[in-house]
Amino acid sequence: MEHSTKFFWVLVLCIVAMTYQANALETVETLKGESLIKKVCTLSATRNLCIEVLSSDSYKSPNANLKDLAIISLRFAATNASGILAETKILIDDDKLSPDVQQGLADCKETILDAESQLEDSIAAIMVDSKGETQLWLKAALAAIDTCDASIPGDDDILSVESVAFRKLCNIAITVTKLLLHPIKL
Ligand SMILES: *[C@@H]1O[C@H](CO)[C@@H](O)[C@H](O)[C@H]1NC(C)=O
Repeated sequence: MEHSTKFFWVLVLCIVAMTYQANALETVETLKGESLIKKVCTLSATRNLCIEVLSSDSYKSPNANLKDLAIISLRFAATNASGILAETKILIDDDKLSPDVQQGLADCKETILDAESQLEDSIAAIMVDSKGETQLWLKAALAAIDTCDASIPGDDDILSVESVAFRKLCNIAITVTKLLLHPIKL
């Protein structure tokens, strides 16, 4: 092939690749509501739960963009943390539990409180478009729940089931905010 013909084809390939990339990015930025939710949740390890969570806001979900979805997933996780906290408070007062479990739960109450406020902080960070900070707060919330798990003796303790569910919710929020931070081809 002529040198200039080769150059021409390389150029054509580059343009095709760039257009393709631009179209792919456009999908996360232009899709909304159910079709965006379906795309985003293909990235989640818990796809059905992801769809359930992101569709849970009857007012916002139908027309949600990526930022709305991030906020919906964070609120969902924060509400879950409040629920776990309420259950923990009841368990702490349960006399039938052994003292070391009660102590573990008391420690947990503190870390869950932390997780809850970290999730609130991540929502605030998203509102002002500080996406990097959002990721930091989310990771802190996940670390809090790990600490909590470790502070209660035994593997299948009372909070394990709840914390597994909570961790899934945090991971869904991480998936959505990561996409907001680094839009990738879906
Ligand atoms: C937290 O969310 C999970 C998954 O949706 C749910 O199964 C669990 O009951 C929730 N826990 C609380 C305390 O709301």
